Formats: sequence, structure tokens, C-alpha cells
Amino acid sequence: METKTRDASDFNPSIIQVIKHIFFKPKFSLNTKAIKEMIFDYEYANYKILKPLLSDIKFDKEEITMFYPGCGFDSVFPLLYLDILLTKKNKKVDLILNDINISHDLMCKAFQKVTGLNYAKKIGKARYYKKFRLLFKDKEIMLHTFESNVLEARPKILSKGIDIYFERGFKIIRESSENFLPFVLKHVRKKGLIIVDQRIDDPNLIKEFSLKEINKKIPKDFGFYKDLTIYRKE
Ligand SMILES: C[S@@+](CC[C@H](N)C(=O)[O-])C[C@H]1O[C@@H](n2cnc3c(N)ncnc32)[C@H](O)[C@@H]1O
Repeated sequence: METKTRDASDFNPSIIQVIKHIFFKPKFSLNTKAIKEMIFDYEYANYKILKPLLSDIKFDKEEITMFYPGCGFDSVFPLLYLDILLTKKNKKVDLILNDINISHDLMCKAFQKVTGLNYAKKIGKARYYKKFRLLFKDKEIMLHTFESNVLEARPKILSKGIDIYFERGFKIIRESSENFLPFVLKHVRKKGLIIVDQRIDDPNLIKEFSLKEINKKIPKDFGFYKDLTIYRKE
């Protein structure tokens, strides 16, 4: 297990940069320079290998929902997957981020640092849940940030359905609650993806939720626990 620090507290765009992005929205893109500083060279090389292997899994839907519990400061990895999986047809992405220890603002800043998007509109006053709306030319991203113990308080928004469940360095925590994963898998939509960095051990869950492992050639060490496995719900 190794990881680079991805603290985004140094992301502080000037007021001019913010105003520029309110009026001249950029296209959805990733700040490759920032990403290369935040991940190891072998991880970036593995992302390049992964990209063509997942190229046939496109979500041709206008709206996509992704859930990432225990995200920490990490926006890099979910964004690398979104970069591979999103198509021109996707107009809106609901990205549900959660961590027991990371503030809403830091979760948002981490996202902004990776996309280079300087403006985010904060919505909502609840202590545990905030929304940030980020506008690109071709997409709207709604960041739903939950600063909470996800094992005890499950975000209600999940019951609307999830297209991508993403997990990195969270298996031990998730397994401390017997019914957390079944709850999540129930809400993953048909044809949705489950991207975990350590495979799901329980054969009953694989069977019950019709999970099929896709492309066994994917690089295993593109995850914290170096056992990257991607399932699709049939
Ligand atoms: C091993 S770190 C992984 C962080 C991040 N996913 C990454 O890959 O860099 C596990 C994260 O889970 C968070 N965490 C631990 N227990 C949690 C809980 N019950 N609910 C939500 N987050 C939790 C921790 O604060 C920590 O940020």
C-alpha cells in the first residue's frame, strides 16, 4: 500500500481566474500536470494501459451517478475513470463523495485542482451534506459531499440509483459493516460498474447481484490494494 499525498488545500485561484471561469467555461478536461504530481509514474502508465481496455464501456446516457465512499483527498482516480467512461452524450454527472474526516471544501478543491476548474457554486447549509455545482462547456458536474460515517448514515441520494460504485483503500472499513456492500450493490443500476481495488470475496454477493468481472487483463496495481477488479452488474 502506497500513495502520494493529494491534499488540495493549496488550490486557491485568484478572483480573476474565478470570474474568467464563471463566464468562459472550459470543456471538461483533466489537468495532466497536476495529476502527474499527485500519482506515481507507474500509476499514470497503468492508466494509459487501462484506457483502451475500457474503451468499449461507454455510458451513453445523459446523466451518470458515481459514488465514492472514503474518498479522502482523492479526486484523481475517479476523474481518470470518468475521463475514460464519459461520452459526448453525458450532460450531467452526479459525483457523490464521502469521508468521515475531510471537509466539504477540501473535497471540492481536490476536484477543482484536477480539472483546473476555478469556479464552484456551493449549495446547501446542512452540516453533513453540501452540494457544489461546477459548469463546463459541455457538462454539469454536481458534487455531493458527505462529511460523515457512511456506514452509519447512508446518503439518501443513493436510492435514486448508481451507475459507478468506486472504492479505493476502503475494503477493510466497508467490511466492518456486514450490510454496507449489499446495500450499495442493490442500488447499482443494471449495466453499472463496480470498481474496487480488492476483489469482492463473497461468492453469494457475486451471484445475488449478477456481477460479472470484466477484462481480466486490466492492470491490478492501479489501486491502493493492488488487486483492481471491475465488475459489471448484468
Ligand atoms: C485508506 S484511506 C483511502 C483514501 C482514498 N480513498 C485514497 O485512495 O487515497 C481510507 C479513507 O476512509 C475514510 N474513512 C474511514 N472510515 C470511514 C467511514 N466510516 N465513513 C467514511 N469514511 C471513512 C478515512 O478518513 C480515509 O480518508
